[in-house]
Amino acid sequence: MLIHFEQEYSSSVQADALVLFVTKAQLEAQTMFALLEKQTSFSFVEYFKRVGFEGKLSEAMVVPINEQGIKTLLCIGAGCDDHVDEDKARKLGAFTGKQLKQLKAKRVCVLFQGAPQFSETLYVQSFIEGLMLSRYHYIACKGEEALHEQSKQISLEDVCLVLDQAHDKDFLQQQLPLIQALVNGVFLTRDLVNAPSNRMGPAEMALAAETLVTRHPEISLTILDREVMEHERMWAALSVADGSEKEPKGIHLLYKPKKAKKKVVIVGKAVTFDSGGLSLKPADGMMTMKMDMAGAAAVLGLFEVLPTLKLDLEVHGLFLAVENMPSGSAYRPGDVICARNGKAIEVLNTDAEGRVTLADALSYASDLKPDYLIDLATLTGAAIVALGEEIAAVLSTDKKLTAQLMAASEGSGEMIWELPMHKTYADLIKSKIGDIKNIGGKPAGVITAALFLKEFVGKDIAWAHLDIAGPAYAEKETRPDIPYGGTGFGVRLLARYLQALSKEE
Ligand code: BES
Ligand code: ZN
Ligand code: ZN
Repeated sequence: MLIHFEQEYSSSVQADALVLFVTKAQLEAQTMFALLEKQTSFSFVEYFKRVGFEGKLSEAMVVPINEQGIKTLLCIGAGCDDHVDEDKARKLGAFTGKQLKQLKAKRVCVLFQGAPQFSETLYVQSFIEGLMLSRYHYIACKGEEALHEQSKQISLEDVCLVLDQAHDKDFLQQQLPLIQALVNGVFLTRDLVNAPSNRMGPAEMALAAETLVTRHPEISLTILDREVMEHERMWAALSVADGSEKEPKGIHLLYKPKKAKKKVVIVGKAVTFDSGGLSLKPADGMMTMKMDMAGAAAVLGLFEVLPTLKLDLEVHGLFLAVENMPSGSAYRPGDVICARNGKAIEVLNTDAEGRVTLADALSYASDLKPDYLIDLATLTGAAIVALGEEIAAVLSTDKKLTAQLMAASEGSGEMIWELPMHKTYADLIKSKIGDIKNIGGKPAGVITAALFLKEFVGKDIAWAHLDIAGPAYAEKETRPDIPYGGTGFGVRLLARYLQALSKEE
């Protein structure tokens, strides 16, 4: 998709579709249509009145004009407000992207000129992000025939954005590679999450990391295979892997620029399939559990973006990929396991496996002595009960880190909300036989899971845990920029967080 900017709309523009933003006020004032009406001798405003198009937010109207090099006019309702915000602009971009797909448009021209909603350059940027995000398809699992059909699909080739005088064209031009990198990162995460578990086990996740570093030589990679994991005494993560025929793999990515102001470690939960183990999940609960590695997939997606961001931060990405299966060799409810940091975990439910694997990942991450440690995990169904499918929970030991993550979330379209990590609930996970139980009962499931993780984070490390069980995967499409399946949640949030952190004095 080639995107370029123009400062003036010229009647010599050639496009399959010309996109216009229409609001009620504009329909009344008739300003922007005057030129087009003159050019095409078509009375738009009269036509809109006749067909009842009012310019409401995300209302679309196609006018086939086929004149002056333009085949269709796509009118996008931009609502009544004078301004959109970043999120609305992104949604409008994605909505437009979907409409253009239906029109099978290859070359398009979008007119921001005279569109008051897009008065700020930032909103044009979000629009582009949305437009790109909406073009995602997961086709890797289709059969030959469908793939052949898909190859005939028309994609957006040339997008000309006509800016207003007030827009900063140079800034947008400069942002383009960053937007593209972000979208690539999000798409990579979506692809990894959407890949079924028979094609995306621990070995394939390691392979995905290897492929990533061949694309980006500035990132280095260490793979921890079973022997290394044993040497590291990662008995907790290894126990979860015991029930599966698939070998566990530890993945450690590192982006280290010459001068780094801060060190950040990002850890992801990487359970490539969560059957529940011997505490087997019911069939319905298991259906989407290929997504239980979405935290790790977001880590990989973030590393896809990092080289383009060029931040003066040392960033580590870490995950221990395992499959949670029931078998004769599986770990059992009642087992007591010694984790890497020496704490004894009493496993009372093998379906609370994420925290058991993260125990060792967080202890290893803490030894790297980061300034900030963040983990992303599809950890609990309780997070979905508490915050639904669009908002992730954040629980942290550091107020400043929480505030920075909340700020990054604002406007990114990736919502998070803080839950408290009160010590009083720590009693719920005290073990009589070992040190700590891996379940704390039904109440406050998100909090007791976070309190469990805290036992494995080094003292004095600013740490935040993101429970992304809700927003990592969409069972149905609710917004045009978020498709069915893997959503890519976390990539844009963390990229923004790191951008802000590197700018900090
Ligand atoms: N992977 C699940 C959590 C999950 C559930 C993610 C639904 C996405 C959608 C996790 O391993 C799990 O099974 N958690 C249990 C914990 C319980 C046994 C304490 C849960 O939430 O039921
Ligand atoms: Zn589980
Ligand atoms: Zn799980």
